[in-house]
Amino acid sequence: MTVPIEHSTDTPARGFGTLAVHAGAPHDPTTGAVIEPISLSTTFEQTAAGKPVGVYEYSRSSNPNRDNFEKAVAALEKAKYALAFGSGSAATATILQSLAQGSHVISVSDVYGGTHRYFTRVAKAHGVTVTFTPQIEVDIAEHIRDNTKLVWIESPSNPTLRLVDIRAVAEAAHARGVAVVVDNTFLSPYLQNPLEHGADIVVHSVTKYINGHSDVVMGLAAFNTEELRERLSFLQNACGAVPSAFDSWLAHRGVKTLHLRAKQSSINATAVAHALEASPHVISVNYPGLDSHPHRKIALRQHRDGMGGGMLSFRIQGGRAAAERFCQLTKIYTLAESLGGIESLVELPSVMTHAGIPRDQREAVGVFDDLVRVSCGIEEPEDLVHDIQQALDKAVKETAAAATNTSNGVNGVNGHGL
Ligand SMILES: Cc1ncc(COP(=O)(O)O)c(C=O)c1O
Repeated sequence: MTVPIEHSTDTPARGFGTLAVHAGAPHDPTTGAVIEPISLSTTFEQTAAGKPVGVYEYSRSSNPNRDNFEKAVAALEKAKYALAFGSGSAATATILQSLAQGSHVISVSDVYGGTHRYFTRVAKAHGVTVTFTPQIEVDIAEHIRDNTKLVWIESPSNPTLRLVDIRAVAEAAHARGVAVVVDNTFLSPYLQNPLEHGADIVVHSVTKYINGHSDVVMGLAAFNTEELRERLSFLQNACGAVPSAFDSWLAHRGVKTLHLRAKQSSINATAVAHALEASPHVISVNYPGLDSHPHRKIALRQHRDGMGGGMLSFRIQGGRAAAERFCQLTKIYTLAESLGGIESLVELPSVMTHAGIPRDQREAVGVFDDLVRVSCGIEEPEDLVHDIQQALDKAVKETAAAATNTSNGVNGVNGHGL
């Protein structure tokens, strides 16, 4: 049985940092422990058949750590309810599974590769079809059919950092009775609250900023209606793609510093984006905190203080070879998938996170072989800028020299496996 929980907070103060620390964080009533204990028990005693001692029966259905974590994130997303899942992908899958067979979904084109994979290879098998559009604000009305049930937005998108005007899309969708989901993974609730802009459901890969320490895989959906709570919590329990109590506890610990981490990541990414924009080795920079970003006005409306977030991507001079070399030459940034952790990462979407998307489709949304994605952590901004600059300089020069040597008939001179 799922235990219905209204995710309100009894904390009188409502500032983000205060909620991050206190929402869903009761002191232990038996010991007074300030930090909640980890409740690993899978089952809970009943005094008579069907009469549990407290509200819990079996840990897949609900458990204290997951409930507290859900309450905390619900408060931060300005939502009445939140449900945690075993991964961001499980949250996506559960929402898609809640649609009747024969339903139609409209999605922005540049979604996370795993979301694209689910839409095209799994949802389809369940009779749910998805139409992708690169300009959803412009043509949403044309794509809505009688069986359209959901619009899927990622803003900013992964990895090209395009923004979508959530309110404009929500108004067009709601006018035709269609619900709107926003994947808010890239910004976290600190920078953007999609429900306040008209979305019906906000999803997160908690794996990223919310947990923030690259040691938990988890997902979450937050929303306001009782109808969604009933439908999605039924599936949360029925499909069972739930996080462990331990992971819920860890992610809840991460939440308590989300405002500090998200702010610093954004400050760092802004410094890095400016340095990249000034570099002769860079073709273009995608960062919504820059005035040059095509959707900067949306960022000013939708993001806290117009902040750009901790993620950016850029195209390096010298093609894929230079991009690959760059990722090997950074000393602080680690070459790895994922994002939103305290440590800075770099990756090549075309061969890593977005390799599953056919070349023509990914290039149509700007995911070229020379695109590098950067996740700025919370290190010192000067160090991050310096590391990017030295890696850029070496990567572009080495690649150019290797190309010259090759065209001169000299092979294998670089010694770096280019
Ligand atoms: C924007 C976005 N949404 C969803 C996911 C999926 O989350 P998870 O890896 O936790 O399943 C990711 C993963 O990278 C992501 O970047």
